Amino acid sequence: MKQQQLKEPHFNGEFEDSDSQTEDNNSKKKTTLIMNVSDTQYDVVKFVGKRLFKWILQYESDATNWDMFWTDTAVQPETLGKMQPYQKINHFPGMYSLARKNHLGRNLMKMRKQFTQEYKFFPQTWLLPAEYGDFKTQFVKGKARTFIIKPEASCQGRGIFLTRNLNDINPNDHYVAQRYLLRPFLIEGLKFDLRVYVLLAGTDPMRIYVYQDGLVRFATEPYVPPNTSNLDDMCMHLTNYAINKENPNFVFNKDASRMDIGHKRSIKAVFAKLEEEGRDIKKLWQDMNEIFIKTFCAVQPILSHHYRSCQPDNYANNMCFEILGFDIFLNHKLQPILLEVNHTPSFTTDTPLDSMIKKNLIRDTLKLMNVSLKAKEQIIASRKESLQQRVLTGKKVKLTMEEKMSQMKQQEQQRNDYENSHLGDYVKIYPLEDSQEYDQYIEFASSLQDSWTGTSINLMYLLDIKRNQKKNTQTPQQQQQIKNNVVRAPFKPNTPANNLPKLQKILRPESINVHGEDEQVCAKVNKLSNIKMQPRQQSEPPVLRFKQTVKKQLQLVIPKPYLQPKLFDMESIGQDKFNNKRQQFQDMMFTK
Ligand SMILES: Nc1ncnc2c1ncn2[C@@H]1O[C@H](COP(=O)(O)OP(=O)(O)O)[C@@H](O)[C@H]1O
Ligand SMILES: [Mg+2]
Repeated sequence: MKQQQLKEPHFNGEFEDSDSQTEDNNSKKKTTLIMNVSDTQYDVVKFVGKRLFKWILQYESDATNWDMFWTDTAVQPETLGKMQPYQKINHFPGMYSLARKNHLGRNLMKMRKQFTQEYKFFPQTWLLPAEYGDFKTQFVKGKARTFIIKPEASCQGRGIFLTRNLNDINPNDHYVAQRYLLRPFLIEGLKFDLRVYVLLAGTDPMRIYVYQDGLVRFATEPYVPPNTSNLDDMCMHLTNYAINKENPNFVFNKDASRMDIGHKRSIKAVFAKLEEEGRDIKKLWQDMNEIFIKTFCAVQPILSHHYRSCQPDNYANNMCFEILGFDIFLNHKLQPILLEVNHTPSFTTDTPLDSMIKKNLIRDTLKLMNVSLKAKEQIIASRKESLQQRVLTGKKVKLTMEEKMSQMKQQEQQRNDYENSHLGDYVKIYPLEDSQEYDQYIEFASSLQDSWTGTSINLMYLLDIKRNQKKNTQTPQQQQQIKNNVVRAPFKPNTPANNLPKLQKILRPESINVHGEDEQVCAKVNKLSNIKMQPRQQSEPPVLRFKQTVKKQLQLVIPKPYLQPKLFDMESIGQDKFNNKRQQFQDMMFTK
């Protein structure tokens, strides 16, 4: 492995694709993969695809024959819904639930209400203007307090200010307000934060990997705790690269072999020094890993819901992956605190340090996700096989529940074996043998999701209560009518996207923000992903879509939905059986 990496072509931070897009590429198409880079600005991504993996780079945004799509913007459910099982994309639909400051704040504060101690790893947060009243009371509590006010969808430290005065805040403005953390751990008298790269490789169950290297970003003015005269010294209080690199005293990294000096350093170099000084770095990683897992637990049901709605049959659960940039503050006791999560962390490579870390990160990610010709060919071969059987027998092969379960288990096992043996510099943190302790958080988050979104299951319970109340006054026909309405309520016979139950409609933000250190990343804010996809081979007739809807409802009533396989395949049963199942389902819902 080491030897192979030594032989790797050198990446100097820049990449120019000299190959023409002609027959040469066309003839290669069958022997290598195609990576679509039409929606990424990052040279490092193109370098890794072309020079390290020897893939063809594709620049047409409306092409459909790619194998790997790398985009700097959020991915919509429609995109995932239309993907072929061998295609992969570098985002999950629904990740706004972590990546927008207001959503993250809301999700984590809700978890904290239930798990007070366990979810203390995030600064106390108020979403303004909705929580203005509660926020206001903090100011009249006597002791001077400092708050940090952030625009709810910003990045690069833009629009952030510190205040001790309520009058600085317009009660109608949308902000995320946080208690300012007063006592950072200092290195050479400077405040800093960590940019840790965490890979989410799947949603059911989540597979979480943490990269062992990352960035340490320093402020450029010596830290003094906030007082009325230094509140607007951004180069002291904020550690964003975009802000501090403008300071004339910023020391840039010049040499990849010296990652322990300057105002941007590598995590490995900084941690090695701290360890030499006797600090417990193992404990620090453990604490951080716990933060990463708990943060994902808070949104697992949302991510899983999106994924399963778009790709219900992807048993390997590996068509999406996402590298998230967690911003971590360390307090004076070296305890980590989560500041924010970036779903498009900057992959700008303007120093040797950035080039080295980000190139390795992207290479290791694509390896771990098994983006390879071999994997693609296996998927196509198994599809071909079932198609052939279908042609021979004249009907779709029906698998029993047990067969389906065993297929699912087999694919999961294969995937896990592969990932465990291709970790690169990643460490797997979830799921591990003792990960059950996190189940309670996911279960609670699931219950919140239902109550926020009023999903069909809630509607059923509500109607159930109503039915019980009215029971004595209703005729049997009226009661039957209610049952039918309950099951039909969420069904919208339309495109797969419209097929998604209410959750997406309610929670999808009007804009999805992109966070990062790079100017152009932010310029992409609000740009909806415009990826064109290969059409599904067969469009689903309305009756199958209806069956899918009921299937989803069945999955909702199973405890721990994130761990459960499908109950039965609606597509493979006939209309009569389907009606029976529906009847069973209704009976199950209405008998106690
Ligand atoms: N609650 C806080 N206490 C102390 N410093 C903070 C706090 N929140 C943010 N910061 C500082 O402000 C910087 C920017 O905040 P962040 O939430 O990451 O927003 P942005 O998306 O603009 O980077 C952080 O890198 C950190 O240095
Ligand atoms: Mg940040």
